[in-house]
Amino acid sequence: MSAQIIDGKAFAAKLRGRISEEVAKLKNDHGMTPGLAVVLVGEDPASKVYVSSKGKMTKEVGMNSYEYKMPAETTQEELLAKVEELNNDENVHGILVQLPVPKHIDDHAIINAISPEKDVDGFHVINSGRLATGATGAQAPLVPCTPLGSLMLLKDHLGDLSGLNAVVVGRSNIVGKPMSQLLLGESCTVTTAHSRTKDLPEVVGRADIVVAAVGRPEMVKGEWIKEGATVIDVGINRIERDGKNILVGDVDTASAMERAGAITPVPGGVGPMTIACLLVNTLTAATRKLGLPQPDLLGK
Ligand code: GUN
Repeated sequence: MSAQIIDGKAFAAKLRGRISEEVAKLKNDHGMTPGLAVVLVGEDPASKVYVSSKGKMTKEVGMNSYEYKMPAETTQEELLAKVEELNNDENVHGILVQLPVPKHIDDHAIINAISPEKDVDGFHVINSGRLATGATGAQAPLVPCTPLGSLMLLKDHLGDLSGLNAVVVGRSNIVGKPMSQLLLGESCTVTTAHSRTKDLPEVVGRADIVVAAVGRPEMVKGEWIKEGATVIDVGINRIERDGKNILVGDVDTASAMERAGAITPVPGGVGPMTIACLLVNTLTAATRKLGLPQPDLLGK
């Protein structure tokens, strides 16, 4: 058997198209242009690439993009002051401080200084608490982008997820923990596995859904995977192979293709969904500010 490829790149492009339509409606009907502010502290090359593509895609859907580049020596107080300024800026509906921040800055303090209503990363304790408690309606959380995008791909491929065994490999605050919460919210039976999990191959082998988010190149092997399972590979690891620099995921795709029913490729799977979901969250934050209902972006 060879697994079906879940095309995150195409899904994300369609999603961005729907977002553009909703942004145009907001401009026309309410005179509002959603705005996303991204703050980058320091010179991390990977972060610079992410921030520039976030800015580009924000503009492409018709939103305003505000980029703030601050030097590596920026103090915590200076960064907190920037966050406060953006919290109070009427034109800014979403705020993202690119992580990691330099070591002398406490990232928890920064994240939790962002207004929860503008926290388009969904990292604020209020948003993670709302996600954990299943809050809905006006209290619904802004959900971290990578897990949100992964869930969209899963639901698009599988439909109803209830009762399925899901194993999330990884327990980061950015992906693993919120992913587990989202799957629990979909009534999956969820196991959160990690580097200390005993007999990881056996645990993964029970899963109908595997989400790999450990940040270790090709760690999850095809032989571990249950026949027909759906595999979401969150990893983006740069490695050298045969003298070439290539991107690989946290799953050994070649062997997983032999067992899985469907799998996200790297690149072109979850990666493009992350930025698309950042735009989803910015649109959500903007519509909520106007008291409007959440637009249906996934309607066929
Ligand atoms: N660095 C790597 N991924 C992310 C993300 O999703 N949000 C932020 N703010 N920083 C990141």
